[in-house]
Amino acid sequence: MNPFLYKLFAASVVSAAFVNNRDRLGTVEKRAISQGWSLQSSVCPSDTVSCGNGGCCPSTLYCNPAATDQVSACCLTASDCRGEVENAPTCADSSWSLWQGLNGNDFCCETNLVGVYNADSQVAGSCVASTSTASATPARLMSTGSGSPATSTTTVPTSSSSSQIVPPSTTATSTSPPSSETSGPTGRPVFFHYMIGTITDEHCEQDIRDAQALGVDAFALNLATDTESWAIDTVQSLFKWATIYGFKLFFSFDMTGFSNPNQFTDFLLSYVTNSSYYYYNGLPLVSTFNGGASSFTFGQDSVNDGWKVEFLDVMEAAGHPVYFVPAFQDVTVTSDFFNEFPSLNGAMNWNSWPFADQGDIIVPTTDDITYLNAARAANKTFMMGVSPLQFKHMDSSDNWYRRGEENLEYRFGQVLQLQPDMVELQTWNDAGESHYMGNSWPEPIAGTNIPAYTENYDHTAYQQVLPAFIKAYKSGATTTDTMYPTNGKSAQGVFWHHTLLAAADCSADSLGDPSGIDTAQDFVTAAVLVGPGIESYNISIWSGNTFLGSQSLSPGFNGLHVSGLTVGTVVVNVTDTSTGSVVISGTGPIPVTDSSDLCNYNFQVVALT
Ligand SMILES: *[C@@H]1O[C@H](CO)[C@@H](O)[C@H](O)[C@H]1NC(C)=O
Ligand SMILES: *[C@@H]1O[C@H](CO)[C@@H](O)[C@H](O)[C@H]1NC(C)=O
Ligand SMILES: *[C@@H]1O[C@H](CO)[C@@H](O)[C@H](O)[C@H]1NC(C)=O
Ligand SMILES: *[C@@H]1O[C@H](CO)[C@@H](O)[C@H](O)[C@H]1NC(C)=O
Repeated sequence: MNPFLYKLFAASVVSAAFVNNRDRLGTVEKRAISQGWSLQSSVCPSDTVSCGNGGCCPSTLYCNPAATDQVSACCLTASDCRGEVENAPTCADSSWSLWQGLNGNDFCCETNLVGVYNADSQVAGSCVASTSTASATPARLMSTGSGSPATSTTTVPTSSSSSQIVPPSTTATSTSPPSSETSGPTGRPVFFHYMIGTITDEHCEQDIRDAQALGVDAFALNLATDTESWAIDTVQSLFKWATIYGFKLFFSFDMTGFSNPNQFTDFLLSYVTNSSYYYYNGLPLVSTFNGGASSFTFGQDSVNDGWKVEFLDVMEAAGHPVYFVPAFQDVTVTSDFFNEFPSLNGAMNWNSWPFADQGDIIVPTTDDITYLNAARAANKTFMMGVSPLQFKHMDSSDNWYRRGEENLEYRFGQVLQLQPDMVELQTWNDAGESHYMGNSWPEPIAGTNIPAYTENYDHTAYQQVLPAFIKAYKSGATTTDTMYPTNGKSAQGVFWHHTLLAAADCSADSLGDPSGIDTAQDFVTAAVLVGPGIESYNISIWSGNTFLGSQSLSPGFNGLHVSGLTVGTVVVNVTDTSTGSVVISGTGPIPVTDSSDLCNYNFQVVALT
């Protein structure tokens, strides 16, 4: 991983967009009342009237009754303005945020809440404190209102505020842990590794909202420079939105970009007092990528002493001792790890993929177990990584494949079995290495070779199964058996595969095949959650009209693959064999080929809906 290079490269391309954003944010928007969609809230704010159906309109406007799958429109007169509002969707009060929910219909929420919807409800959507605790599908944020959520007290996010959500008929919400167990600052946190690059203010906001909706605790901000304005601006924007939405952030210093902690201690000190900085055991959490190799002594006698004297002691002397859990993937882990590095509070295992010379194996837990045992023996913390794939195809020195076959679908169970103290999902947005599971925005990778193998390869469908995993881990589950659908449906899932066959001809690509390509296999992999008690579902997989296989599914999590991926389109159906009807299905938009000008082994990731 050397993310620093492409971020620097991309920095100048988009700096203009930042200036515009800052100007736009500098002007205080005036609150405007106009005809538009109503606010969804069980308790209507004082300057609104209740439409009697969970909707609220500004008290100067008229409620238009809700229509099928839609909420009330707020009209300037008693006559029906619904058609006009549909044609120019906006919120009746510009301080509210506009969301798009059921069947593409719009509704509005106060800015401190998030929009969700339920397919069975006949209402466009409703507003909840966090989608991670609601048995509903996250809605799409269309525009953010100008409201000041930090001071808003008009809507209390109680369970009644989601009263329009029809309880799922088959999922056992009783298996979800009580919210107090899921939100504790210390107990079993789950993080997403987040690459700091040039990211617009709007996209920073969207990233925070989307990650929060999945139930993760914080972003681990991968920072490789704190002197470039694009990095400083992105960090500031993320902290701003994290403060507004109540999300948390901490730094993971990327030691491919720093040669001494004194390059970042002042920057760190300027953020550890921010209310959105993530604390563990009462201390600000700090991680790294690398920093264990023999070069990182920072003028001291050993690497451990370097970090102790030049970083940990410095932070303590400044009044802010930190909780330090680095990912020293640049050293080989042994049972002696914490004897060699006694000053660390814990360690993260970055190594979530087999190396090519290990062959076609299931993602191994060897390093995880070594770290875990060493941590238990030394009263230290172990953070385990979870990642689907590592494929990098940027230039001749960054062209490798670390197997995504037999990885993520096994990794959830490995985590639940091993019970690490923390989990880091790798990653939210590292497009360069193809292990992004969140939004991959164009601006940090503009001007690089990365879009060639990531554009149109949206990976957000992995998120279909992440909330169930996060809930299971936080609840203390030791198997995947209780990973039920989190969207209120009886089944939920995702599948993934390459769009280029393992033996394909891509000789026209000057970079050539990535190293390790011999460990790629022509698989279609699926991860499917099935509601409790349901024994009648099965999954069937086709590739280019060839039937590859069928298998019955069990309640809880099902991870499986079939071989035989071939040229053409991949189709996956989950069928209820008791009725013969298709419950959920997906079709890969990009057909598989056996030759290409580009050796692209990124995964196509498709939701089963
Ligand atoms: C945290 O930092 C952001 C960005 O500088 C700022 O907008 C926010 O007000 C800070 N919050 C606190 C509580 O210091
Ligand atoms: C283990 O570490 C924690 C802090 O990380 C400390 O509070 C506790 O006393 C330690 N326990 C032992 C037995 O050393
Ligand atoms: C799965 O269901 C389909 C449709 O009912 C059926 O054709 C197929 O044989 C089933 N496969 C298994 C393994 O049960
Ligand atoms: C798979 O499901 C889709 C959507 O329901 C359906 O159109 C298609 O016919 C199914 N394919 C097969 C082979 O059953």
